[in-house]
Amino acid sequence: MSADTFDIQAVTQMNGQKERDVVPEVERGEFVLEVKNFSVDYGVGENMVRAVNDVTLHVRRSNVLGIAGESGSGKSTLVYAMTRLLRAPGVISGGDVILNFANPEDEKKFTAVNLVTANEKELRRIRWSHVSIVLQSALSALNPVLRVGREFDEVLKTHRSDLSKEQRRARAVELLSMVGLNEDRLSRYPHELSGGQRQRIMIALALALDPDLVIMDEPTTALDVVTQREIISELHDLRSRFGFAMIFITHDLSLLVELADEIVVMYAGEIVERAGARDLYEAPRHPYTLGLLNSFPPLHGQRHELTGIPGSPPDLSDLPTGCNFYPRCPFAMTRCEHEAPGLRAFENSDRTVACWLHAPDSSVPVPVELSRRATGARDAVALLEGRP
Ligand SMILES: Nc1ncnc2c1ncn2[C@@H]1O[C@H](COP(=O)(O)OP(=O)(O)OP(=O)(O)O)[C@@H](O)[C@H]1O
Ligand code: SF4
Ligand SMILES: [Mg+2]
Repeated sequence: MSADTFDIQAVTQMNGQKERDVVPEVERGEFVLEVKNFSVDYGVGENMVRAVNDVTLHVRRSNVLGIAGESGSGKSTLVYAMTRLLRAPGVISGGDVILNFANPEDEKKFTAVNLVTANEKELRRIRWSHVSIVLQSALSALNPVLRVGREFDEVLKTHRSDLSKEQRRARAVELLSMVGLNEDRLSRYPHELSGGQRQRIMIALALALDPDLVIMDEPTTALDVVTQREIISELHDLRSRFGFAMIFITHDLSLLVELADEIVVMYAGEIVERAGARDLYEAPRHPYTLGLLNSFPPLHGQRHELTGIPGSPPDLSDLPTGCNFYPRCPFAMTRCEHEAPGLRAFENSDRTVACWLHAPDSSVPVPVELSRRATGARDAVALLEGRP
């Protein structure tokens, strides 16, 4: 059976799971990706570290989910493992990753495939066509001995055997123009292009087959601020035009708020806060989110002094006993040292936060910095610094 003919019933039976995943197709269509209780380890036995711990997240169709967190928080491990691109010693140690893609014949019907259990043949059919990824190292991901045109031709030839050579070239020219590049770039080698041009080419390749979901792992981090802004604005336009969903990873929260509908913040392999992008930016509820907002200059508005987060992320092989953020948290309480807070709904809303300050049984008043809505990160920072 091919991935294209799978229905969710078949997938769940194949995985030996119960029928908990069987829901009407219309409901499934709401989310392009459902990640459930997903964990990833590096190594085995005594040397094993858990780089992604029990992550659950959903990506709505045509929406952008931003993933933020400092270096080492597990962002790349999460998306590599989700798409089954993770190499040894990385191993998926639990959970499901359900990709729901529209059937070409009937866009109201959806096919669900569990990427965790899909075999290599199914994964090959799904990659590029339904989910594509721009890797963190995209600047060196293009084959140095292939002209750019060949890269496009190979992808299109493999997945669109109905296209003639001329049609493939026309599609490559169209894709390049979508990312603001002239067709003469097709005859260039990667080393003849600037970093920004190479990155645009990677994005155009990722969009070549109209995927349902595009994953971008820090695609603009190595670029200057002007090029970074141009590419973000182009991605914004492309998403509006073509309606693909996107996961966009960065450690720069103020950049994410420009692009994302929803943001999850990761710390030490776990989600510590999830909220609508604007809510998270204007009203951070986790001390780590507040610290991250204070670590980058805002893209708009007045500049402010950046204070960052004291200390450094924990060693995964020696995590604190309670809240992972405890050693760095300016608001830590006694219970934080010994009890892990766990992710819970924030005040009956659909945002979630993992912090004892917001627990219903907390007897400590929530600090003003984490209880009020600021008018932007700058104001949140002012609150943190105790300014009016
Ligand atoms: N091959 C590996 N072997 C052992 N540990 C690894 C390996 N690759 C990554 N890790 C660990 O897994 C954790 C998560 O790494 P990951 O690369 O996913 O972080 P990240 O959030 O993407 O960071 P960055 O922002 O620097 O890209 C880190 O603590 C890292 O040391
Ligand atoms: S649970 Fe405690 S240590 Fe952890 S973020 Fe909240 S206040 Fe800080
Ligand atoms: Mg990374």
